[in-house]
Amino acid sequence: MKIGILGCGAIANIVVSKIMTNYDDINLSYFFDNDIKRAEKLASMTDGKATSNFDEMIDNVDLILEAASAKSVEIYASQVLKKGKDIIIMSIGSLMDNNLRENLIKIAKDNNAKIHAPSGAILGLDGIKAVADLNLTEATLITRKSPESLGRDIKKEEVLFEGKASEAVKKFPANINVAAAISLSCKRNIDVKIIADPLIDRNIHEIYIKGEFGEFSTKVMNLPCDNNPKTSILSAYSAINLLKNLNSTFSIGN
Ligand SMILES: NC(=O)c1ccc[n+]([C@@H]2O[C@H](COP(=O)([O-])OP(=O)(O)OC[C@H]3O[C@@H](n4cnc5c(N)ncnc54)[C@H](O)[C@@H]3O)[C@@H](O)[C@H]2O)c1
Repeated sequence: MKIGILGCGAIANIVVSKIMTNYDDINLSYFFDNDIKRAEKLASMTDGKATSNFDEMIDNVDLILEAASAKSVEIYASQVLKKGKDIIIMSIGSLMDNNLRENLIKIAKDNNAKIHAPSGAILGLDGIKAVADLNLTEATLITRKSPESLGRDIKKEEVLFEGKASEAVKKFPANINVAAAISLSCKRNIDVKIIADPLIDRNIHEIYIKGEFGEFSTKVMNLPCDNNPKTSILSAYSAINLLKNLNSTFSIGN
């Protein structure tokens, strides 16, 4: 399977460093970034090609892995799907925009293409999807990150946001994709709290879901990527796992 990567930053660097050596059936063929040097660096680590022509990349791959930004989803996702190519979207916060999401789903259906979004930096989307159609009385996310990753310079813990996921993704587009992933999985605009905590060196996400099925909570304490503290290493591995699953005949835990 030939993959084109849109966005050659923290996630893409981990994907390339792991897939290059481990999974020969996944062929990382094309790299595209606003900063062509970043694309060239990843191309040089594989047998791939860096390009500044997005159409050329779409035409020569089976699937695009978006690991760039919410804006890039707006600009490029429809072009990918119109050509009947599948896309993996990491910047899932962009899909909280109902018009954009529904439009992309329609284009995908019309062109026999698929949109995938991995679980990213969190755990438990399998369970959340399983109970999505039941009556849920609580669905909350508490995210705790370093002030640096949230663009703050503070010495004491501070609650930066309390409200709905749809607002959180607008205010913190590069930090709270997880709120969108949970909301889209449970078909609700969940409650979100974002805390900047100078005493932690992890990106911590706590999810709590309660309803007629019972209740569950998950807590993940992610190490951030070296070159982007907003992004958790787990999210890159989640993309790698999704790429592996696309090719496998047996999948578990979906
Ligand atoms: N789903 C999740 O749980 C999850 C977790 C972490 C990060 N993310 C999201 O994944 C995306 C990538 O994360 P990252 O840490 O690798 O980011 P990064 O900032 O390290 O790298 C992004 C790269 O994309 C490029 N880029 C940005 N916008 C572009 C555009 N419009 N066209 C071309 N290139 C563009 C940048 O130049 C940069 O090289 C971000 O949107 C981030 O918010 C999602």
